[in-house]
Amino acid sequence: MAAIILFGGGGDLAMRMLLPSLYFLERDGLLADELKIIGAARSDEGRDEYVAKVRDAVQPRAESDNAWDEDVWRRMETRLDYLAVDATDAESLKPLKAKVGDDEVTSFLAVSPSLYGRIVTAMKVAGLAERNSRLVVEKPVGRDLKSFREIDDAVASAFREEQVFRIDHYLGKETVQNLIALRFGNTIFEPLWNNLTVDHVQITVGETVGVGDRWPYYDEYGALRDMLQNHLLQLLCLVAMEPPSDLDPDSVRNEKVKVLRSLRPITHEEAERVTVRGQYVAGELEGKPVKGYDDERGEPSDTETFVAVRADIDNWRWAGVPFYMRTGKRMPEKRTEIVIQFKSVPHSIFASGDRGEVCDNRLVIELQPEEDISLSVMNKRPGLERSMQLQPIKMSLSWGVDDKDARPPRRRIAYERLLLDAMNGDNTLFVRRDEAEQAWKWVDEVSEAWEDAAFKPHDYQPGTWGPDEAEMLLARTGRRWNTTDA
Ligand code: BG6
Repeated sequence: MAAIILFGGGGDLAMRMLLPSLYFLERDGLLADELKIIGAARSDEGRDEYVAKVRDAVQPRAESDNAWDEDVWRRMETRLDYLAVDATDAESLKPLKAKVGDDEVTSFLAVSPSLYGRIVTAMKVAGLAERNSRLVVEKPVGRDLKSFREIDDAVASAFREEQVFRIDHYLGKETVQNLIALRFGNTIFEPLWNNLTVDHVQITVGETVGVGDRWPYYDEYGALRDMLQNHLLQLLCLVAMEPPSDLDPDSVRNEKVKVLRSLRPITHEEAERVTVRGQYVAGELEGKPVKGYDDERGEPSDTETFVAVRADIDNWRWAGVPFYMRTGKRMPEKRTEIVIQFKSVPHSIFASGDRGEVCDNRLVIELQPEEDISLSVMNKRPGLERSMQLQPIKMSLSWGVDDKDARPPRRRIAYERLLLDAMNGDNTLFVRRDEAEQAWKWVDEVSEAWEDAAFKPHDYQPGTWGPDEAEMLLARTGRRWNTTDA
């Protein structure tokens, strides 16, 4: 028998992501037959009230995917239970322990990380941290290396490393896993995947949303800690890592950690040249007026809502290949992509005369809004012109290219994969402690450099890709960010 306990089971993450994900897993027949789903939260409500709330959250989400099915819901409903608990108090957790008995339990802490320490201590006393228990934790764990370690030490006092599943939801995204398949399931890319052929790499995570009323959290973090420390560095690791010997969780994570260890530290002197901080001001986005960050915050703040960084990886494969990362709120579109920009041909035989548009090869791995992998290659434009005319064409390397009627599969919630893997005890797509530590170490150097130099964010208009300095970061070396219309 098995159970999943959702601490914070009535909260935003549980209602918006976790319970809809469990519904979709139910629908696809992927939940263990005997699995119980137990919401645990402070609110003093009964099971029926909780079940009704879950239905209200899950049904519209499923309907928007044309995937609502009363039979599936009925199956899920029979698994659901609720218990009002104070998770920081071992006594209060005892009835929960009584419910799950000796079942294999996966506990998901969908609560503030400031409570993690007290909750795991109480879980240990209450018998919820046994050898067959697993603990799933969400970011942000700490806001620097020191606070990360404090929280993680508390977790480690109750759970062994292999029992801890640190979520980075980007690792649950389909295209991110497809990147592993692309790199290591094919022979054609690997010989090109290095500093002989690759000019540079770009990782962009743009969001149109602003910070809004999340500012009490966000103001402490900023784009560097909220996004770059985790999601963007994870993407960088998957692009840059050496082939693991197999897909064993530690084989993959050993390779990722080596990349993080090879990141060249950003010195205080260099910070101004290789990093850019930005903050959106009031303006207009998608035809609507939007507030500036300071207005949302209610007073001036030096927190960045945009960050761009040039990272260098000091190893044989990547020496001399910059990895440019940028992420921000209030960008022109919600777009997440990784661009592998290849070098120019060593000698162009098409140099003279008007030849049309000549571009260097580029592999674009798009995570959002579409899930797609495409390769730009040069082609001859059909025709009888005396001087051969060239044109770039984009070849999609994703699903269905050889099947004209194929439709993309339903876009899964990243948590579906992650919940399933956690319940199955597979940590491959979760962040190991040493990975998180290395990422914090590198990011701490950047934030310390900013603090020391009183390096304030530059203003940027909503609907732009950040301040001009972000363009300069690449333009200085004759490069430019990929644009969707390029
Ligand atoms: C979260 C950040 O981790 O990721 C948010 O805290 C951000 O600020 C979100 O909006 C973006 O996730 P996604 O999956 O929508 O790209």
